[in-house]
Amino acid sequence: MITIKSSGEIELMRKANLIVRDTLDMLRDKIKVGMTTKQLDRLAHDYIVKQNAIPSFLGYSGYPASVCISINEEVVHGIPSERIIKEGDLVSIDCGSIYKGYNGDAARTFLMEGADEEKVQLAKVTEQSFFEGMKVLKAGARLGDLGHAIQSYAESFGYGVVRAMVGHGIGRDMHEDPEVPNYGVAGRGLRLKAGMTIAVEPMINAGTYDVEMLSDGWTIVTKDNRPSAHYENTVLITEDGVEILSL
Ligand code: MF3
Ligand code: CO
Repeated sequence: MITIKSSGEIELMRKANLIVRDTLDMLRDKIKVGMTTKQLDRLAHDYIVKQNAIPSFLGYSGYPASVCISINEEVVHGIPSERIIKEGDLVSIDCGSIYKGYNGDAARTFLMEGADEEKVQLAKVTEQSFFEGMKVLKAGARLGDLGHAIQSYAESFGYGVVRAMVGHGIGRDMHEDPEVPNYGVAGRGLRLKAGMTIAVEPMINAGTYDVEMLSDGWTIVTKDNRPSAHYENTVLITEDGVEILSL
């Protein structure tokens, strides 16, 4: 079921998403070569709780941490651990919070000093692909218009747009209908309405779009072992465009 949010619900989603945004901004300041991913997870957890919100990932389908941290060839859902962040790493962090029953969800990709040109461009293009999608979004636009805008931009750089995972509606639940692919055909798919809230989250691979899951049951990696980047915001569809709630 696709829900249209009331102005009261939207206000709570603004708050949940600003907490997520601020958590990611805090992590951008704190992340350093030599830290473990678990240290970052702890910082995020404590920050979210301090804002009177709930870290939504913790315990979600049994997920054991408050953020997902995916490094280099890891696409999404990397589990924080004793792994040390190294020079040249590309680090994607995905974060969610629940505030008074409503969800926020966003992701950013950070580059450690010494990251090569391939990673620098991949992170930049992944972020820009999200904004290419925003250019076509408004009430009456179709999900295929959004997917096509993201896909055509990313593919113009020779990159692979991940197919196996997609964005999603969001609200009381982190994952609501509809599914929001980062690929598609313009003019096709669901017609969006004002008051819908969706998480748009391009996952873009330097090489091919094929991915596989590691034996931990969570971590998704590229099949060709080349790097992958992730960028996500929760957005509200309006009559004439979007309001990006987590920016
Ligand atoms: N936030 C992710 C998404 O964008 C999902 C995280 S899965 C979890 O859909 F298990 F870590 F919560
Ligand atoms: Co999401």
